[in-house]
Amino acid sequence: MPELEGMFGPEVEEETPTRRDFFTQIGVGACAVAAVASGIVTLDYLEPKVLFEPPTTYVAGSPLDFAPGVVVPNQEKKAFVIGGANGIYALSAVCTHLGCITRYKSDESAIACPCHGSRFDLEGNVTHGPAPRPLPWLDVSQDANGNLVVDTGIVIAHGKVFRP
Ligand code: FES
Repeated sequence: MPELEGMFGPEVEEETPTRRDFFTQIGVGACAVAAVASGIVTLDYLEPKVLFEPPTTYVAGSPLDFAPGVVVPNQEKKAFVIGGANGIYALSAVCTHLGCITRYKSDESAIACPCHGSRFDLEGNVTHGPAPRPLPWLDVSQDANGNLVVDTGIVIAHGKVFRP
């Protein structure tokens, strides 16, 4: 049989794993899991945390839609676009008392707050408290298509109307 030993190499006896081998493998496995978990946490930490807020601008329509006396509320954007005698303007719908969203009362040509009863005229002036200040006027511009664009993030001077 010495000829066969040369062909298949020396006979190797299989070793049975010892208790030490078993605990070594457990330890290596635990370290691998900890390394992967810490890598995931590190990658998550390095990823930029950016808050994407909705845009403050919205298209309010054609200036031709805003004849004097026309009031168009936008509940989602919390604003009114109003056709005034001298031009178009936008008001914030956020009450200056505690921040409730005001509503347009067409039968009274007024803006009213449902929370504590404040009232405003169509230029945003307080006609009945407890609101301490007028409703802010918002920036109005025109886009390339000629539509009105209201920016609820830009407060402008009271009385500054937009003329297309
Ligand atoms: S929040 Fe409008 S009156 Fe109080």
